[in-house]
Order: sequence, then C-alpha cells, then structure tokens
Amino acid sequence: MDVISSCVQEVCWAPFECCGARCEGYYYAMNHRKILLGVSGGIAAYKAAELTRLLVRRGASVRVVMTRGAQAFVTPMTFQALSGEAVRSELFDDAHEAAMGHIELARWADAVLIAPASANVLARLAGGMADDLLTTLCLATPAPVAVAPAMNQQMWRNPATQANVALLRERGTHVFGPATGEQACGDIGPGRMLEPPALLEALSSLLASPALAGKRVLVTAGPTREPLDPVRFLSNRSSGKMGFAVAEAAARAGADVALIAGPVALPDPGLVKRVNVETAAEMHTAALEHLDNVDVFIATAAVSDYRPAATERRKIKKDQATLQLSLTRNPDILAEIASRDDAPFCVGFAAETDRLEEYALAKLRDKRLDMVAANPVGDGQGFDSDDNRLIVFWPEGQREFPLQSKTSLARELIDLIAERLERKDEEN
Ligand code: C5P
Repeated sequence: MDVISSCVQEVCWAPFECCGARCEGYYYAMNHRKILLGVSGGIAAYKAAELTRLLVRRGASVRVVMTRGAQAFVTPMTFQALSGEAVRSELFDDAHEAAMGHIELARWADAVLIAPASANVLARLAGGMADDLLTTLCLATPAPVAVAPAMNQQMWRNPATQANVALLRERGTHVFGPATGEQACGDIGPGRMLEPPALLEALSSLLASPALAGKRVLVTAGPTREPLDPVRFLSNRSSGKMGFAVAEAAARAGADVALIAGPVALPDPGLVKRVNVETAAEMHTAALEHLDNVDVFIATAAVSDYRPAATERRKIKKDQATLQLSLTRNPDILAEIASRDDAPFCVGFAAETDRLEEYALAKLRDKRLDMVAANPVGDGQGFDSDDNRLIVFWPEGQREFPLQSKTSLARELIDLIAERLERKDEEN
C-alpha cells in the first residue's frame, strides 16, 4: 500500500484536512473499495459525475447504475468514461447479465450509494420495491446502503417523504444530507444534495473500520425447551427477536458472529453463523464449543433455570388428580463463562417485571459481568413485542435507551458495547 506523507491534491476539500492522519485514514478507507453508485433522476445527477471522479481518484472501483430518469439529465457515456466500466440501467439485459448478473453485482459491492436519491427512489426503497435494476440491487445486497436525497424543499418536507426516510433509517439505510440552501428551481430550503466531497467523506467514514471490525462475538438468543415427555416441555415467552437483532447489528458492525438460537420462528439474520439448539444443556454445550477467541459474549437467551429431573419416555397420562414435577437447576451459561480467567467481555440481559435496577445491578455484581441490559417485561412489554426499552448498567455507569424498535435498539447497544470494550482493552 502506498504511504501518503503529504497532501494528496484534489482528494481534499477543506483547508484543515489537506493532510495528516484523518486524510490518510479516509484515503485508505476508499482504496480498493467496490462502490455501486446509483444515480436517479434529478438535476443533481450531474454532480454524481464529479463524485465518480473523486471515488476513482481515491482508488475505489466504481460501477454506476442509472434509473431511466437519471438518463434524462446525464448520459451513461459520461459515467462510463469516468468509471471505466459499463453503465447499467436495465434489469433484464442479456448482454450485461451475461457479464455480471444483478445478484452478483449486488454481492460485489462493499457499499451502495444512491446520489442523487429522488423522492421517488426513496419511496420505492421504503416500499421494498424491486421494479428496476437499482431498487432490486438494494434489496439483494448484503452491503451497507446509503442515500443522498436531492429534491425540491417542499417534496423533502412532505410527510410522505419524511415517513419514507424515517423507515429507511430505521432499517439501517444511511442517509447523507440533504443540505439546505438555494435550489435549482429557485426555492430556498432543505433538499439540496450534499456536495461530492462531502459525500466522499461520509462514504469513507462509513467504510472506515466499523466498531467491531476483527472482533468475534457470541450471542445466545430465544427460549430453551426442557422436555417433560415426548410431547410436552417447559419453556417461556421469549421470541428471540432481541437476540437476533443484536447478532445482526454486531455483524453489521464488522464482527464475526456466532448465534446460538433456541427454538424460535425467525429467519437467519444476515452474515451470522447460526446454531440451533433446543434445551439449556444443548445451549450450554454449543456456547462452550464456540467460545474460542471470542471477544464479546452477549447472553440474550431466556434460558430455562430448571429442567425436569427426568424426561418420561412415554407421554404422561392424566390418571392422577395432582402431578408433582421434580426439577433440577440448569447450568448458568453466562455466569460460568464470565467467571473464567480468560472471560470475554460479558453482557447479560435482565428481563424483570419489577425492581428492575436493583435486580439488574445484583446480576452485574453476582455474575461478574461487564455490562447488563435491563428491560421491563409483562403487560405486553418486552418478550414478544417488536419494540423495547433498555437501561444498561456497567460497573462505572449506566445509559438509558428509550422505547424503540429492537433493530435500532440493538444497533445502539452494539455501539455502546464497542465503546466499553475499547475502554476495557485500553485499561488492560
Ligand atoms: O439469573 P437470570 O436468569 O435472571 O440472568 C439472566 C441472564 O443470564 C441472561 O443474560 C441470560 O441469557 C443468562 N442466563 C444464562 N444461563 C442460564 C440463565 C440465565 O446464560 N441458565
């Protein structure tokens, strides 16, 4: 890799950032990166040509996908000349599909940036549509997707656009801008696309080392089932949604993630190695098997504390007026892992119906955890809902996360874990 010891002219845009660590960091963030640049219809499409040039100068490989609308403003030839690659716009195009199919193209990208992103493209993305090549690629890519909105200020302020952008943000799409100022139509207000250098900076920081890059994370999720006989079991109301969201957020933050999942009706979260188990004993074994070189262990599972002392081989009959069950304690997976000399950074969950803080702090202390995330359950809160709120405690502090979707909560929790992990590593 080339060492940049002085300012690289034309890749810098602000006088205070013409050289030095920040500049080098961003330079390297883009070098050899594969950027899929989506261009949709709007007057700002001409600025995407400049953006292509800046990306290429930074060492990125750029492939441009244009919507039909974009071609009314700029010709594909412009982007082809600047990127050195054929420009695509049709989903069903034999010649291009033969060279690199659209799914391959979606997988090829390290990041997708749509600049400019029109109100129409934002609406189609929010609706999960796949009615042209660009929207199809956005659905099919495992890479981060960013949009740079550009439209008239009234269109930007329209509640429909605002709702679409909020939904996209919620699902993890990065929204760069828009800027406020004078618009091509003469209006003044929000809706101007960010300038190409600012977009380059935003994309570079998105691709710069993510929070958990190079880390291994182990997550347990969902309930366990403890069989009483061949047809019955003891279990609980855990849906696994929080744990799956945490596993996915950790993977998106760059970690190598193993997810030990109890019986749940959830699809695999992207980019995660999933191991399905049924009982607490199986979860215990699987967690220990996947503990090698783990940096962070996040125990979101609602593990059954007890299992039947014996599992009947035949179905238990209802011939007695009362039935006594004898239960045995299950191993506490989290406490066991946290007590090891080589324990990873351990995060527990405390789902409580009352005295939330008191019980959470007791768990932090008794299980010798690095962090505990407490959430209220019961009365429709917590277990099976899509939303949650958390109070997170660690030995020196606490942070409250208000009610929000488990997806965005998981992302914020992962950011906090990365922050505390870094602090712990610095102290050791
Ligand atoms: O002690 P309690 O069950 O309330 O603690 C909850 C935390 O401990 C959760 O993080 C849960 O995943 C973990 N735990 C575990 N193994 C158990 C019981 C709880 O890992 N047997």
